[in-house]
Amino acid sequence: MQTNISDKIRLPARYGTGEKSVWIEYNEFITEVKPKLNLGQGLPDYHCPSHVPKALAEAALSENPLMNQYTRGFGHPRLVQSLAKLYSPLINREINPMSEIIVTVGAYEALFTTILGHVEPGDEVIVIEPFYDCYDPMILAAGGKAKFIALKPKKIHDKMTSAEWYIDEKELESLFSDRTKMFILNTPHNPLGKVFTREELEKIANLCKKYNVLCVSDEVYEWMVFEPLKHIRIATLPGMWERTITIGSAGKMFSVTGWKVGWAYGPANLIKNLQIVHQNCVYTHCTPVQEAVGRAIEFELSRWKTPECYMFSLARELLAKRDVLDRILKDNGFLTTLPEGGYFITAEYSNIANKLDLSTEKDKYKDTRFTKKFAKEASILTIPMTAFYSKDHKHLGENYIRFCFIKKDEVLAQTGTLLQEWHQKTK
Ligand SMILES: Cc1ncc(COP(=O)(O)O)c(C=O)c1O
Repeated sequence: MQTNISDKIRLPARYGTGEKSVWIEYNEFITEVKPKLNLGQGLPDYHCPSHVPKALAEAALSENPLMNQYTRGFGHPRLVQSLAKLYSPLINREINPMSEIIVTVGAYEALFTTILGHVEPGDEVIVIEPFYDCYDPMILAAGGKAKFIALKPKKIHDKMTSAEWYIDEKELESLFSDRTKMFILNTPHNPLGKVFTREELEKIANLCKKYNVLCVSDEVYEWMVFEPLKHIRIATLPGMWERTITIGSAGKMFSVTGWKVGWAYGPANLIKNLQIVHQNCVYTHCTPVQEAVGRAIEFELSRWKTPECYMFSLARELLAKRDVLDRILKDNGFLTTLPEGGYFITAEYSNIANKLDLSTEKDKYKDTRFTKKFAKEASILTIPMTAFYSKDHKHLGENYIRFCFIKKDEVLAQTGTLLQEWHQKTK
């Protein structure tokens, strides 16, 4: 029988149509267009706390030769032990470091092992929109189907905050059925910066219990919640520990996104499923990097709740940056949503859209055309919001773009200067 080679090299349908993710696309775009400022991807442009890379250098140069060899597959002992010490008091239960935690290649792999380790063909997963873009392709790769529900602003006005973006309760319950396997929560939320309240979490928890659904809580921005709000871990709500997998990231915790160390914690019978997927794909993360994160957490625990402790100083530092960027954006015609956590500002650009001729850009969605033209004309890179919406709901994001504000103060100030210059040019 004659077969065609193109049939054999086709990307399996479970990986979608083979489109590049927004991160790949925009990193390529930057090398081509070279905007002066990059407020796109979520990463700091300044140094992490110095004890963190110092711990890595010490680990890699250690006299113990095993420090540069394979370590325990499900998580380097020193790191899982320090994670257990960190999280046990926060969730009011003793976490077993060996069976209730897994270390992964970034929160990304924690999401992957969670989804691939539980979702089967035909299962449904409820996802809140806008959503971190990898959730949907991962659900598809597992053979599942995502059911989306959008956060919507109560009313669009010039002093919006992320608290005003809410989920319609009736619509939410209508998505649950006996096909629902999992609910994915992200708090603090990327891109909106919404910090879910106890009441909101209780409603989600009650539905997860009523329909017997697993809850995945992506909490990578857990240390970036602005006073007086507090981050609430859904795993601490009654009856939730046994059905919740909570995901964290050292990249976000210590401003070392390039290290790609993440983790998941939860009951042993759920974590076991992640361990199997992990064992059969990456097996283990780098030993010295895990050792360094373990030491860095121990160091922060030794100065816990002091003003210097990075888990607390980071949010204070970001609050000041948030306010600076929010003012600059408002002064330049954007309608912003003031975030309660995280390090992104979502901005509505309709008032200034006519300053750019978008007809020269070929992309399908208006916000993508806007971000590309804006990067070329104002020299500032941002991310289009449609990247965070499902195929059928892109229209909900088309008037928004996302700015990242974990940037040097001078970069934020320069954003103001570039925006004013752009306004002058386009008068
Ligand atoms: C909501 C959310 N989840 C997961 C991740 C992935 O984190 P990591 O870099 O640790 O893989 C990110 C990264 O930006 C994120 O914003």
